[in-house]
Amino acid sequence: MAAKQRSFVGVAEGVEWPLEAATLGDIAAADAALGQQYADIMRTDRKLTRQLVSFQDNKARPVYRWYKYKEGFAAALVRYMLDEVGGTSGTLLDPFAGTGTALFVAGERGMDAAGIELLPIGIEVISTRLAAQRGLRAEDLQALRYWTNSRPWRTVTPDEPLEELRITRGAYPPDTEWAIRACLKAMQDESPTVRQVLRFALLCILEAVSYTRKDGQYLRWDHRAGRRVRARIFDKGRIPPFDEAYTSKLHEILVDVNSTQTTLFGEATPTGSVSLLEGSCLDVMPTLPDTGYDVVFTSPPYCNRYDYTRTYALELALLGVDETAISELRQAMLTCTVESRGKELLPMNEGWERAIHAADSQALLQLVIGYLEGQKLAGKLNNNGIPRMVRGYFYEMACVMAECHRVLKPGGVVVMVNDNVRYAGASVSVDLILSDLAQELGFNVQNILLLPNGKGNSSQQMGAHGREVLRKCVYVWRKG
Ligand SMILES: C[S@@+](CC[C@H](N)C(=O)[O-])C[C@H]1O[C@@H](n2cnc3c(N)ncnc32)[C@H](O)[C@@H]1O
Repeated sequence: MAAKQRSFVGVAEGVEWPLEAATLGDIAAADAALGQQYADIMRTDRKLTRQLVSFQDNKARPVYRWYKYKEGFAAALVRYMLDEVGGTSGTLLDPFAGTGTALFVAGERGMDAAGIELLPIGIEVISTRLAAQRGLRAEDLQALRYWTNSRPWRTVTPDEPLEELRITRGAYPPDTEWAIRACLKAMQDESPTVRQVLRFALLCILEAVSYTRKDGQYLRWDHRAGRRVRARIFDKGRIPPFDEAYTSKLHEILVDVNSTQTTLFGEATPTGSVSLLEGSCLDVMPTLPDTGYDVVFTSPPYCNRYDYTRTYALELALLGVDETAISELRQAMLTCTVESRGKELLPMNEGWERAIHAADSQALLQLVIGYLEGQKLAGKLNNNGIPRMVRGYFYEMACVMAECHRVLKPGGVVVMVNDNVRYAGASVSVDLILSDLAQELGFNVQNILLLPNGKGNSSQQMGAHGREVLRKCVYVWRKG
């Protein structure tokens, strides 16, 4: 947090000491004390299965299954939690909308919903779904059927090279790359709506037909790509031919559109309006009116070093995001990777002073940052960007949470899905730290709902720290 650097001084028994000297023991003690403070409202909810809190459950759901957003949550989770918190009417906001799961479920329930999203792939998924929801005309459906059955790209000779980024070069088998280019050329003759759906279907299959697999922090490369790989040889298994993958995705979309035009989006089902605001929620939220929303339902990026701009690079390249734009995007995203340089929060918005002060005063957070800074000074971190990332994550989240509080109506509720993390042996109780910040910002922390089985460590950390599980939770905070 460049705007207001802390000097990392803690006070213990009246004596000041540098926070860099914080130990794992200090963190454990502060964590236990904070855990005690929230013990009454922390409980395991057996209905919150891993299936529900991840994208898994969407895989068999019409429309939700089109684009597999691994970072998404299940539509069923949104339904379940909205029932739990009594979110049945009014307006829902998701400041980290992703592919819009919360928005579309809210819409199906007759609520109005607004989402904010920065990543072009999320924006494209939401926009295409909105176009489909508005209803495709008979001639659009006919054109899509023609593409599925007649495969017009097969007779087209592409003339444009495929848009690439350094990290996506050579991502497809040669026949597939040719077919993608031919497909992009052939769709130019279609109407804007049909073209949008065709391009969307292409985005949905890029990973499957490529030599890559999304793997959290980066793209993993199959050995058949012929890249020099330092890591273990990786074989992703069968890579389907382009025609098979593309026609099957188009078929799926047509089946779902046909079934949902009579049920989901039909007159029998109440549908609220769904809208999308493009950009960073740190820029967009301050433009939203006070007390305009009833529910904030969201899952921010986790503080886990996952880099969306790398894992979604194939899609971003196809959407025309170039090297400059991707680095800008990386910095604009909520800080959760070691490459984030941190944001000047106070200059962005003077109204965030209270949020920044809340983070400055959160004892456990300061101990964690101090400990990580100390580990960095001692040369013990595998990446020196970790303390800056952890600090940036919580300070930015504090500002987002202050905005959530401002835009919610009195009695409004935040439902947030997030994971705890661990760095350099220190468990970071994201659930407790964020909930304590929420309390400080005027929320009443109603529940911290734990998934029955916490997430295990990464295999590297497992050796060093045993099988201690990291909590995965859904938080419920209500504005008083
Ligand atoms: C965990 S995902 C949310 C997934 C969503 N719940 C769904 O079901 O699709 C977090 C999202 O936050 C977005 N994001 C990251 N930084 C952002 C920012 N500053 N403003 C808005 N969105 C951001 C990411 O692009 C990502 O789509």
